[in-house]
Amino acid sequence: MIAVKSAQSFIDGQWGAIEEGQGLEVRSPYSNEVIGYQYETNEQGVEEALASAFRYKKELEKLEAIDRSAILYKAAMLMEERQEAFAQLISLEVGKALKNTRDEVGRSIETLIQSAEEAKRQFGETIPGGASSRGKGSTALTFRVPVGVIAAITPFNAPLNLICHKIGPSFAAGNVTVLKPAPQAPFIAKALVELLIEAGMPAKAIQLVLGGREVGEKIVADSRTNLVSFTGGVPAGQQISKLAGMKKVLLELGGNAGTIVHEDADIERAATLATKTAFSNSGQSCISVQRVYVHESVFQEFSAKVKEKTEALHVGDPRDEATDIGCVVSKEAAERITSWIEEAAADGANILCGGSANGAQVQPTILVNPKKENKVVCQEVFGPVVSLIPYRDVEWAIHEVNESAFGLQAGVFTQSLTVVRKVVQTLDMGGIVVNGTSNFRLDHWPYGGVKQSGIGREGPRFAIEEMSETKMVVLQDFLTL
Ligand code: SIN
Repeated sequence: MIAVKSAQSFIDGQWGAIEEGQGLEVRSPYSNEVIGYQYETNEQGVEEALASAFRYKKELEKLEAIDRSAILYKAAMLMEERQEAFAQLISLEVGKALKNTRDEVGRSIETLIQSAEEAKRQFGETIPGGASSRGKGSTALTFRVPVGVIAAITPFNAPLNLICHKIGPSFAAGNVTVLKPAPQAPFIAKALVELLIEAGMPAKAIQLVLGGREVGEKIVADSRTNLVSFTGGVPAGQQISKLAGMKKVLLELGGNAGTIVHEDADIERAATLATKTAFSNSGQSCISVQRVYVHESVFQEFSAKVKEKTEALHVGDPRDEATDIGCVVSKEAAERITSWIEEAAADGANILCGGSANGAQVQPTILVNPKKENKVVCQEVFGPVVSLIPYRDVEWAIHEVNESAFGLQAGVFTQSLTVVRKVVQTLDMGGIVVNGTSNFRLDHWPYGGVKQSGIGREGPRFAIEEMSETKMVVLQDFLTL
């Protein structure tokens, strides 16, 4: 029996009221059982959250870096104590297998620790004016200062770590955050806010608003927020860009990540990693391996290994210890994914395994040789579907990986420096992984893309740069050495 939960707003340091009968049902995507209710923030609530954030931002600037850092360390420590409860909650809420959610919680702890460390490393510069004939006798000092209020909008696929990637750097830099989490994952957001307050975060430094598009649009467009940090799909990212006007935007959007397996690759390693990183979290990651271009001389061996490893995966209840693959976020998402598989199959692709769904549970699916214009190739699947495409000429494979509206991450398996050089020189991507797949991210590395994959970089050090401004103080006729 599942304990029914509730999630409500946290505004101006107070949890919102829970009004009987007003909550929206939240259902487990796996079992379709009601697991709780969320109470969306109404217009007045959003207004109060923005007003409170705006009032509080100058106050928060007085909290020194060492204190912000200590709070984030404490939050990491509390999360470590509660890791299993967090992992269970994510699995329940979004259907992600426990194996994956335990990993996510571990990463979230690291993200908080990295943010705590970076909070103490916000340095400025001393720039002598004497480098200009007009500047003799002057000096400029630069300081990093918070932008003020950050509107953070987060997705369902990594509902804890991707919030930590926003709140961690935002608070480390001294900003107030107005958080709107994914409507599919309100309980995780609430649990994290509770933990942050317990860790000592000043209550008004985090405002939690719940709801859908309207709530998101209000916090993006409002003049009291100074920066928008969004992770999600391309259409929403484009809309945010329009609404944000002149304010800074950090957009982590989609991908249809490609990985190349060259003839000289370690095939066992490539097959193991490709299988793992195509299907973990049911493929619901922006860097999930979606297209694998495999040299024709190793294609049979590679595809046979990937098939064997895929068939050994246990698809089942996300909260079962043995499960490798839980479900996708909803039955509707599963229907879309299977319709894309069917489109490719009707167009001549061979289904090596999988291909069907039951409710929100999509079988891990391997397609061989879909066409370039099939959605499984040219759009973002966000499901457990990988396409294997043979090649003869590596230049062609590199071109195909790059021929995408997206540019987030890519991978290449090869021993050849010449191939690595070509890949690195050619691909327009935020990141390239050599001897690994596209789906490898460490949380302190810069993460983000080009083209439709977004703008800016996450990873605490890099996000803090985005979430702070340079303030210059000029000393004239005062101090030059
Ligand atoms: C994402 O962009 O979907 C998150 C990927 C990750 O953090 O591993």
